[in-house]
Amino acid sequence: MEIIFVGMKIFKAVKSLQDNSLRLKLEGKSIGFVPTMGYLHQGHISLIRAARKESNVVVLSIFVNPVQFSPGEDCRRYPRDFKRDCSIARNENVDIVFYPSSGQIYPQEYSSYVEVNGLSSLLCGKSRPNHFRGVATVCTKLFNIVQPDFVYFGQKDYQQAIIIRRMIKDLNMPFKIRVLPLLREESGLAMSSRNRYLSKTARENAAAIYKGLKEAKDLFKNGQRDAAKIKAMLKKKIKEIPNVRIDYVDIVDSKSLKSLSQVKKQSILAVAIWIDKIRLIDNIVF
Ligand code: PAJ
Repeated sequence: MEIIFVGMKIFKAVKSLQDNSLRLKLEGKSIGFVPTMGYLHQGHISLIRAARKESNVVVLSIFVNPVQFSPGEDCRRYPRDFKRDCSIARNENVDIVFYPSSGQIYPQEYSSYVEVNGLSSLLCGKSRPNHFRGVATVCTKLFNIVQPDFVYFGQKDYQQAIIIRRMIKDLNMPFKIRVLPLLREESGLAMSSRNRYLSKTARENAAAIYKGLKEAKDLFKNGQRDAAKIKAMLKKKIKEIPNVRIDYVDIVDSKSLKSLSQVKKQSILAVAIWIDKIRLIDNIVF
């Protein structure tokens, strides 16, 4: 089950991709792997480019992973455009696209899950209880299928990157993780596949998040270390956005993700909000 898209191979079956990867490894080729849920944007492209620089073979996966969505979340309506994604991948010289069905990844009677305790219940984990279990599970499966030497994640999903890094270490997975900077739209809004659901006005209004994050950084630069005061400023700013609901605004340690009362260099200011029922996350490093 392998399709060729102008020189780029598309695999839909787990077994054929895994066999292909094992063969590439025997040939001494290094594999760079970029897992995504598709609807690619510049943020994803930056990961592909980093992989392209470092590995002989670049594998991109496109899979909207149902087990990382809770019932009532947007799994079914998550944006999809496989053709467009393929032409972007082709332009970026991706060698292999893995595009499995849900049934390939989670066949009937599927029952194994990977949990990274502690880290997974903080920040986004509070309002999305099984989310990181779903992410850790699908990433483990994808890693086992793709057999990468390097895997690429974005700092946009800061908590996800920390959790995957922890999992790779804890479970002795034999490859390296690279975490790349968060890319933003011109307005400052963090790029995300979900942005396409924002109305024009909501999209414009959402730029206030980054303005607030930058102001928070300025407060820190001017000597403010009281996390409560910085968070209060940011919450006030975000609440001015029409139709907004705050999930969390928190300042946390960059490794443990635990809430801090005193801000230090490298602390993370992380936010999650809903605008018009679209969930957006963003963060900056102090
Ligand atoms: P997805 O949201 O498609 O993101 C895929 C990768 O792109 C993640 O590592 C994410 O952090 C990175 N990314 C997204 N927006 C970015 C931006 N604005 N700047 C830089 N990098 C960005 O994250 C997932 O998919 C899924 O949870 C997945 C890991 C694929 C597991 O299903």
